[in-house]
Amino acid sequence: MMHWQAICRLDEIPLRGSRVVKREGEVDIAVFRCADDRVFALADRCPHKGGPLSQGIVSGHKVSCPLHGMQLGLEEGRALEPDEGCVGRFPVRVVDGRVELDTTPIAP
Ligand code: FES
Repeated sequence: MMHWQAICRLDEIPLRGSRVVKREGEVDIAVFRCADDRVFALADRCPHKGGPLSQGIVSGHKVSCPLHGMQLGLEEGRALEPDEGCVGRFPVRVVDGRVELDTTPIAP
């Protein structure tokens, strides 16, 4: 059972940027919009030392952490080689120009 919540309009997220969905007592979620308008949602905490991935640089379907530059694939939520690590992923979709998120993590 999915629990979709409308977050914002797609055009409210900058291209190659993100929007943070704050959560009480849980890790925030970063919703990324890629140049091709695909959206991905990851926990906003780098697996290396907790950097805010929402402030990273998006290129293609990956994001570089702003702290030490680790690259993570947005689709898989995994660090790209040679780094290792993974980050929680969340279901996100675009319906009629609105971004909808389910805050239940996708099983790794
Ligand atoms: S905290 Fe992200 S690369 Fe170090």
